[in-house]
Amino acid sequence: MAGNDTIAVDPDTYLRSYDDDWQSETTSISSSIYKGIIENGRRYQTLKNEYCYPSDEQQFETYEATHLAALVADSETSNALFQSPIGHSPKNILDIGTGKGSWAIDVADMFPNTTVRGVDLYPPPVNWMPPNCILEVDDILDEWTWSEKFDLIHMRVIQCAFTPKETEKLLKQCYENLQPGGWIEHLELHPNLYCDDGSIPHDNILYSVGPTWDAAGDKSGRPMNIITTMRESITKAGFIDVHEKCSKWPLGPWAKDQTMKELGLVNLQHWLTGLEGYAMHLFTRYGDPVPWSKEEVHVYIARIKKELQNPRHHGYQRARRVWARKPFPNEKKDDVGLKKEDDE
Ligand SMILES: C[S@@+](CC[C@H](N)C(=O)[O-])C[C@H]1O[C@@H](n2cnc3c(N)ncnc32)[C@H](O)[C@@H]1O
Repeated sequence: MAGNDTIAVDPDTYLRSYDDDWQSETTSISSSIYKGIIENGRRYQTLKNEYCYPSDEQQFETYEATHLAALVADSETSNALFQSPIGHSPKNILDIGTGKGSWAIDVADMFPNTTVRGVDLYPPPVNWMPPNCILEVDDILDEWTWSEKFDLIHMRVIQCAFTPKETEKLLKQCYENLQPGGWIEHLELHPNLYCDDGSIPHDNILYSVGPTWDAAGDKSGRPMNIITTMRESITKAGFIDVHEKCSKWPLGPWAKDQTMKELGLVNLQHWLTGLEGYAMHLFTRYGDPVPWSKEEVHVYIARIKKELQNPRHHGYQRARRVWARKPFPNEKKDDVGLKKEDDE
């Protein structure tokens, strides 16, 4: 499905019923780093001064849905986990902001002879990992102490995590810690809601989602809307051979195409489980025009959820994947330009 194509609607959607049978994760919490800090009923990491999304069971459930959605979205490619052409025997791979660690674990399973590291501010709630997967707790903005250079550095959904200056610093660190010819890959989402067939009226509250999150992200100094700047940031950091793939992620099972239908179903789950966590700290701290109360956040989220679950709404959001290569010594930057796999 190209980023520009209209998603065909399945006319039978309303006749079926869909399960939303999601497993949740249970974790035993011991040290203070596991305990985190509780704010408005959600648990947040304590390693860094501030990160806007919680690190608790509900949020990890959301991250699992993101992971599944990303796999479904690229299920028709030869490798749904990443697109960078790193060959069959990479030595070291890094996942920045690994969340629940699902991507790092799957990549470690795929490459049993590769060391795959996932790093996050909060310990991922996993009981078992492949022996070649290492999940670490650290602030990625601190000086990197890994001695090895990486063949691939991956990031997914790091919106609202870094200021523009921090992003610049992070990409510089990625560049310096990749092998020559190594790849960086970033998959990002944005909550702006689109509809191509008028099934969602113009004055629907769903259209407020993107601008509301953008306003709070901007106020926090850590923008939400990095989907529009990620390619430029990666290019500016010196990477070449830049590829990008833009796609539409439906919300709900309304699409006719089976893959898009499954993607919509998983993505709807991603939103339903994730909205509160994505909103709570951000809006109670940086809400526009003034910080919102916890109750205001709950009311807004309930209204959004109700509209999302209307099966006659054919809404979608956009995703963008960018992957690019660190040049070999003496390779000129102009040698390899932008390659679009797909476009909006
Ligand atoms: C929205 S989550 C996405 C998780 C995962 N990449 C995924 O796609 O499911 C972003 C993650 O980045 C982590 N993060 C934010 N700032 C970070 C930092 N400075 N260092 C390490 N991890 C960070 C957060 O704790 C969070 O788990």
